[in-house]
Amino acid sequence: MIGKYFIKKMLTISFVSVFFIVTISPIIAMNNQYLETNEYNNSSYYQNYELPPPQDIDMPLEETIMRRMSVREFTEEPVSDEDLSTILWSAFGMRDDGELTVPKYENAQASVIYVLKEDAVYTYDPNEHALVFYKEGDYRDIVGWQHKAPIQLGLCWNTDIADHNIGSAELGAVGQNIYFSANAIGLGTVITAQTPNPAIEPVGLPENHQGMGVMPLGHPIHDYNFANKPMLISLLPRIKISDVSLTTVLKTRDQVTTWETDKITRADLSHLIWSSYGYSYYLDQSGSANVVKRHHTVPSAHGYYPFIIYSVTKTGISKYNYGLINVDLRGLPILSYLLPIAFGDKRIDIAQASEDFVSEAPLSIIIVLDIENTIKWDDLSAENQRWIWYYEAGASAHNVLLQATSRGLAGNIVHIQDKNSICELLKLDNEKFDPMFIVPVG
Ligand SMILES: Cc1cc2nc3c(=O)[nH]c(=O)nc-3n(C[C@H](O)[C@H](O)[C@H](O)COP(=O)(O)O)c2cc1C
Repeated sequence: MIGKYFIKKMLTISFVSVFFIVTISPIIAMNNQYLETNEYNNSSYYQNYELPPPQDIDMPLEETIMRRMSVREFTEEPVSDEDLSTILWSAFGMRDDGELTVPKYENAQASVIYVLKEDAVYTYDPNEHALVFYKEGDYRDIVGWQHKAPIQLGLCWNTDIADHNIGSAELGAVGQNIYFSANAIGLGTVITAQTPNPAIEPVGLPENHQGMGVMPLGHPIHDYNFANKPMLISLLPRIKISDVSLTTVLKTRDQVTTWETDKITRADLSHLIWSSYGYSYYLDQSGSANVVKRHHTVPSAHGYYPFIIYSVTKTGISKYNYGLINVDLRGLPILSYLLPIAFGDKRIDIAQASEDFVSEAPLSIIIVLDIENTIKWDDLSAENQRWIWYYEAGASAHNVLLQATSRGLAGNIVHIQDKNSICELLKLDNEKFDPMFIVPVG
């Protein structure tokens, strides 16, 4: 009885096994093969998207700053891999000495750039100078919520490394490098930022990546066209175009904490403070819908330009007036000068509120937000929106370091620990003003 039952059981098991081997397993194998093939295809097609070497940009730094402007209308002409490579290297590339093309704000480097192309979303890997596949699909229109372009660059930062304000400040430097290099090679861009939900969100970011802004990139519909109309009544030495190229500056910019002398020439002071926030000598005649004709050296959310810039030298503290009024009146010449607000060497007091080495710097530029100027027609004054202004302050500080490099100088970006003391020194109400960075330089 047991024997008969055993044989019957064995026969059933054998039958099921044979059926499985003959029918089901080839199907599974085929499926696996299909999956493997797809994975293989994905990795070979997407993950090894090596960029060609970046091109050198020969245009002098000052010329790229003079030409900085926002572009919002693009042709459908694709951006070549060569151009994309140059832009990404400038934005956040790795230099031969292992440093990145943007400075450290509070010793951190947290930027992550998402590159949205027609086929897929990638992230830029500065170590390999390559695009790393992130997600298949065309997200450019979803993310390019304002301005349609062949490439959309999602500026994000890693929240494990930096907070919202410092992450945004560093992206201010990334953004400047994108503006300068894009303009120099005939492409256009604009920083756009959406609040409270970052425009890049539909892409679906990892938990520790936070979106700050999106920069469309493409060929401008309206060609760049500038007329050189310097500010006729500037009381500061004229800005001169050097022979130091943008690429050289990006490759050699340094961050230092000591200086050989405590003197600064008026010409150096004029160039450094101009680069932080001044007006261009060029008038924009591109015919774009842009109402601004004389652009500043940095962009500003809503065109508010709410910052006040101070210079500190051993002779005293001055306020920078880049124009009599802070709106561009159809590109008219403007009066730029330094207005003394305190006499005597205050550098030790400034250092006590920030870093010791600031007391040794021949010049410190202090970037201060005038909060009341962030309200105008749309209120952007809230504490939780302060990152918007950190972007601009970061861009301004970065410009100073670039300009210093082109003049054979070097500086640093210093976080302010005691904002109240800085306000007191600058004779400002600490409820209404927010000092963001000190840039010691010399
Ligand atoms: C943080 C930030 C956010 C901005 N957001 C937008 C935006 O959402 N859309 C836009 O078209 N421009 C935006 N801009 C660009 C400004 O409108 C522009 O810089 C300003 O109008 C001055 O023009 P210009 O850059 O051509 O000199 C932004 C600029 C900054 C700094």
